[in-house]
Amino acid sequence: MTKYIIHGGKPLFGEVEISGAKNAAVAIIPAALMVNGVCRIENIPQISDVTMSLKILEQLGARIRSVNRHTVEIDSRHIYSTKTSYELARKIRASYYLIGALLGRFGDAEVALPGGCNFGGARPIDQHIKGFTALGARVTVEGGFIHASAEGRKLKGANIYLDVVSVGATMNIMMAAAMAQGNTVIENAAKEPHIVDLANFLNSMGANIRGAGTDTIKIQGVDHLTGGTYAIIPDQIEAGTYMAAVAATGGQVLVKNIIPKHMDCITAKLQECGVEVDEHEDTLLVRRCGPLHKANIKTLPYPGFPTDMQPQMTTVLALAEGTSLVTEGVWSSRYRYVDELKRMGARIQVDDKTAVVEGVDHLTGAPIQASDLRAGAALVIAALAAHGESEISQVQYIERGYEDIVNKLRSLGADIRAVDVPDEDLDLTAHIS
Ligand code: EPZ
Repeated sequence: MTKYIIHGGKPLFGEVEISGAKNAAVAIIPAALMVNGVCRIENIPQISDVTMSLKILEQLGARIRSVNRHTVEIDSRHIYSTKTSYELARKIRASYYLIGALLGRFGDAEVALPGGCNFGGARPIDQHIKGFTALGARVTVEGGFIHASAEGRKLKGANIYLDVVSVGATMNIMMAAAMAQGNTVIENAAKEPHIVDLANFLNSMGANIRGAGTDTIKIQGVDHLTGGTYAIIPDQIEAGTYMAAVAATGGQVLVKNIIPKHMDCITAKLQECGVEVDEHEDTLLVRRCGPLHKANIKTLPYPGFPTDMQPQMTTVLALAEGTSLVTEGVWSSRYRYVDELKRMGARIQVDDKTAVVEGVDHLTGAPIQASDLRAGAALVIAALAAHGESEISQVQYIERGYEDIVNKLRSLGADIRAVDVPDEDLDLTAHIS
């Protein structure tokens, strides 16, 4: 097992290159199963969730060839199973995308239910099931597996109104409907950049999906998808995390390989906090010289402030002058990291979905533990800004979503190193991504 040792208090300077988007990659990789041919996927992030997704595809019969560090070719012409192994699929939350992909192409999918949740709240998939059922699939949950089957018939297009704006349900239904008979309309669809990316990927393989990025997505079923080449978008949340790190530590960093439009709400909030952000074509220059100001945040589906940036921004606000209010508007709970920040000297009170963050002058290094991916990112930011040494454990969670984070931060002047320590009893299945 690895821990990060961080000596904080050093401002960050330099340039950082943002990797491909995790939440697009973990959907596009399963979507490659739908293609009766070879997909070449570029700008794939080197993170463990991607490694795990590729392993699952291999186990179903896909042939995977690494072209280089960030490009893979996936050949799905010889898939021999539509049932995933429990051991592999339960390890990543995003394994639920295999249901839409396998059901969409083969009319059958049996996938282990995703593992428990580490936010501390429920993560239902009723809207995914509602969508598959509307398309004519029979969905059962038995023995830890979810089984979706078209029962030998073709799925049929349908009008589906989502009761909650769900990223996962929108993407899963898009995949299941891509080769269904006739037209499907998804209303109240999620609009996140990775939804547009999945639609673009499927369209580039021959699908007919319109309206992704708006709340109405129209899908005209096609007979089959063929191979091609596609490059994944840059990771909005990884970029936001480095921006938040600069806000917390001070300094000046050029964040490279981003789509500025995707960063708008994060940029605006950091500017409100007194951080300077200059936007260029595919870079952002982030600078913080003066004190941080308080700000209120409410997380919302895109284009609102992303829940996946909530822990990182709460950490920034923990160091701002005045009292800020953070409200979680997507998940029922996502504040497990707050106790760790408090151990570093933060003054934060959580009441249900709201955190009252009273800014302090500085944080102090401490042994701390990541409880999920973004909680881990928040703790890295806290440790980089804190006085003294911090030791972060359970960093496996962080490495599921942040490519090469230690070296990227070191190149910005951070004093961070990864050290191997004897294994402890670690339950990765509780991680969500
Ligand atoms: C995706 O999760 C992301 N994961 C999450 O990112 C992200 O936090 C979330 O979207 C919201 O943006 C991936 O893309 C792999 P949802 P997902 O379905 O799709 C409720 C990270 O840190 N809901 O949009 O599982 C649900 O309880 C991860 O990178 C239902 O009620 O999220 C929640 O309150 C963590 N029924 C809300 O909708 C359903 O069937 C949004 O969930 C589905 C969801």
